[in-house]
Amino acid sequence: MKVTIINNQDEAGAYVANIIKDVIKDSKRPVLGLATGSSPVSTYKHLVEMYQNNELDFKDVTTYNLDEYYGIDPNHSQSYYYFMNQHLFSQVNIDPSNIHMPSGIGDVALKSQEYNQQLNTDKRDLQILGIGSNGHIAFNEPGTLFEQETHVITLDLKTREDNSRFFNTLDEVPTQAITMGLANIMDSKKIILIASGESKAWAINQLLNGPKSIDVPATILQDHPDVEIVIDQQANKKAQWK
Ligand code: F6R
Repeated sequence: MKVTIINNQDEAGAYVANIIKDVIKDSKRPVLGLATGSSPVSTYKHLVEMYQNNELDFKDVTTYNLDEYYGIDPNHSQSYYYFMNQHLFSQVNIDPSNIHMPSGIGDVALKSQEYNQQLNTDKRDLQILGIGSNGHIAFNEPGTLFEQETHVITLDLKTREDNSRFFNTLDEVPTQAITMGLANIMDSKKIILIASGESKAWAINQLLNGPKSIDVPATILQDHPDVEIVIDQQANKKAQWK
């Protein structure tokens, strides 16, 4: 596993955006797996700047997002659909029909099966990931089987507490989500995981040095042949779980 230490979020964003740029330029039909949350925000900012400077064209890019909250309308300001539009999709020339996001409303079980079929026929060239303080990737919480594909999951209290910063109260944070499974994530040719801050140090230490275990879902990445971890010094401390 390659580990790249960066000084700050902006540096991480510029670094990862350049890798994405190469993936887009190297393929006639690049397929990207995308994440939401704080970790990739700077990456999207740099991609938008590249597009505005005519360095990057999203015309032929296809995207698949990792996850979406259950029961949240796409127009809700905390939906991941809304997040992606705000930070990337509405600001570049991507074809809307090439954007794929799991749906958190309607017949979610059926829709998650359909999403899974799409993922299985359209492999990602590059998957961008963040990591939860409990070691989740996408919303695969501790205990999720490594073989799991797209599914509906009950969010850990720790995840809901971490994400309550985006809501008014903890009660407002959805209790469930629809997420790509660990098997879907492992299907990507290349994976980049971005993490910053001390709150991620325990999970990063487990990922890099811990035993492979479903108790820390990110440790499945130890088996992937092409993973790069982009982290700051705070996330690189060998922290104990608190
Ligand atoms: C988001 C996702 C999550 C986040 C993780 C870290 O699509 O799949 O796994 O990457 O919860 O979130 P941040 O980046 O907000 O710390």
